[in-house]
Amino acid sequence: MEQIELENLLKDMSLSEKIEQLVQLHGGFYGETDNYTGPVVDFHMTKEQPYRIGSILGEHGAQKLKDLQDRMMELQPHHIPALFMADVIHGYRTAFPAPIGIGSSFHPELAEKICEAVAREAAAAGVHVTFSPMVDLACDSRWGRCMESTGEDPWLNARFAESMVRGFQGDDYGKKGRVASCVKHFAAYGAVQSGRDYNVTELSERTLFEDYLVSYRAAVSAGVSMVMTAFNTINRIPCTTNKWLMRKVLREDMGFTGVLISDYGAVGESITHGSSEDLRDAAKKAMEAGCDIDMMSECYLHQLEGLVRAGELDESLVDEAVMRILALKNQLGLFENPYKDASTEDEEKVLFCEEHQELSRRAAEECIVLLKNEGVLPLTEDRKVVVVGSLADDREITGSWALFVKKEQTVTFKQAIKELYPGAHVEFILSDSLDEAGVDAVKNADRVILVLGENQSTTGESKSLADISLPREQRELFDRVYEENKNIVTVLFGGRPLAIPEVAEKSAALIEGWLPGSCGCYALADILFGRVNPSGKLSMSFPHCTGQLPISYRQFSTGRPKPPVDHYIPFVSNYMDVPNTPLYPFGYGLSYTVFEYSEVTLDKNSFSKGEKITASVVVKNAGRMDGMEAVQLYIRDMKGSVVRPLREFKGVEKIFLKKGEEREVRFDITEDMLRFYDINMDFVSEPGDFTLWIGDSSLTENGAKFRLLPQRQEQLQEV
Ligand code: BGC
Repeated sequence: MEQIELENLLKDMSLSEKIEQLVQLHGGFYGETDNYTGPVVDFHMTKEQPYRIGSILGEHGAQKLKDLQDRMMELQPHHIPALFMADVIHGYRTAFPAPIGIGSSFHPELAEKICEAVAREAAAAGVHVTFSPMVDLACDSRWGRCMESTGEDPWLNARFAESMVRGFQGDDYGKKGRVASCVKHFAAYGAVQSGRDYNVTELSERTLFEDYLVSYRAAVSAGVSMVMTAFNTINRIPCTTNKWLMRKVLREDMGFTGVLISDYGAVGESITHGSSEDLRDAAKKAMEAGCDIDMMSECYLHQLEGLVRAGELDESLVDEAVMRILALKNQLGLFENPYKDASTEDEEKVLFCEEHQELSRRAAEECIVLLKNEGVLPLTEDRKVVVVGSLADDREITGSWALFVKKEQTVTFKQAIKELYPGAHVEFILSDSLDEAGVDAVKNADRVILVLGENQSTTGESKSLADISLPREQRELFDRVYEENKNIVTVLFGGRPLAIPEVAEKSAALIEGWLPGSCGCYALADILFGRVNPSGKLSMSFPHCTGQLPISYRQFSTGRPKPPVDHYIPFVSNYMDVPNTPLYPFGYGLSYTVFEYSEVTLDKNSFSKGEKITASVVVKNAGRMDGMEAVQLYIRDMKGSVVRPLREFKGVEKIFLKKGEEREVRFDITEDMLRFYDINMDFVSEPGDFTLWIGDSSLTENGAKFRLLPQRQEQLQEV
């Protein structure tokens, strides 16, 4: 449709019809068409009303959505097609590793490929919009939703945000096989206090802008078509009714022009937050804040008309929101083809197709992180191995936001080993407690693989923990096995870093498998048996204990920094009982080969705005196996008008090196990479001294110094 036709359509719509476009309901409203029961009654709707609204959440399947679309268009007075939105977060029918794992690939291009595959499946199943990517910065693993985030670093999250948006949308999400992408949760949901889900946040404006908003901004710049609000407050105002956040920061400053949707029920929750009087007040505030779609609360449906008729809300606000929704429908091509790509034939072809299964496996190879290896890995097939733990045969490891997978298609760890290594001497004890026979088997094994951690029922939304140690039963299991056999390879599943200092110390090897997706256990098996060389790097630090949270490598210098010693020192900034540093930091992950880094060389030691410095290292695979390595760049601004982080992640290149091969890796340093919110909250760089490091983790000391020079007079005059 041309813009003028959209405008004419809008002019022709009644107020109630317009308001219905701003409402989103879940699929439960569309079950039995002849039964006037359940949510329809709870929401005080007429029988037909659900069929006139603008968008539906969570429904999927080509035939079902085609039929539903027919009915929607029949009952909507102007035959406007509905939008079908769903949480297709890390897979539709084929599950890929959970986002925390994807983050650990340190490979944004891989995330783009994954999202392309996810979009292909979702589009064939009739979905128009996915509620993904979730780009909330996560530094506190008490929060169950860490599993949906790519981790603790603003820069890395921003790269993943862009690549995921590109993967879903391509250059035009109206094209076949693409879906519109909705970035969430705006904003700073990952900063919920004490890691407790749905809690408030307490952030300085500087922290919000410099750390938390970076990834959403990147998604907006990449052309994301929708944004979802967050459940939390910012500055004690619920995000969904926060006019400053939505109108000023998101729309005006970031330049977002697309559709803004509330999170589930969040418009109404401003009442329970205690910042709106009632449904009417909540509707007014959310509308004024610029929230276009009310997902699953009654506020817009029943309150907007009265507000407009009473002159308390300008109808132009309603029109503005409706126009954005019509524009999204138009961009998706729904006025020409209301089903978009929904096709039962295409579902047959693409859902869980071989290509996607293969990608799920290859992706997991890059996401799994080897954290410790005292020479016990890789395993050889002649060794007697015992695998212990119920998670070893659990299909609930695809992740809690892979809602539409078929559970029976998830390959378990046991299944993967049996299929790929039929000749290996592996016995399975699929229980979290050991009987006598189990104890004997453990005692007589050359290696014990102990599978611990979480599955999707214990990590994800609303799965916050006050104590992130392993559950007692698993700790007891570990101790029991350790009594009998010290050759333990611990494999962790789950969606967050857990506090495992003893397990880490006592295990001979340790692997974080995350929630690896439909075919990820093949990758895990191949890593254990050495067919695949691990290359994952932690996208979230592993703390020693819950008390260190929130934690990130992006620490700041205090007035009393701790000198580099291992013990406690009074009257400096440290703990009496644990170190300041995490057990395993951001960027950390081992390989079966050895990557040697040359010293960093710079092509010059100082530069001004408009110029660049090139920093390079030569990386050599000096071990005995081919492998991939994420070469990482960190920078420190030595002094600033405000306190600056001790180092910040600023670049990565993931390279593949055959054994014996070496390669030069270069990073260009430009002035814009050095910008931050200065004492006046201006986003600028400050001339002065910097240190950069290039290495294999955030611990690298392979550094060089450079200087950013003040702008020359001529440059200042040009400005
Ligand atoms: C979650 C969102 C999700 C929405 C719709 C909410 O509970 O916070 O991330 O997109 O439900 O399912």
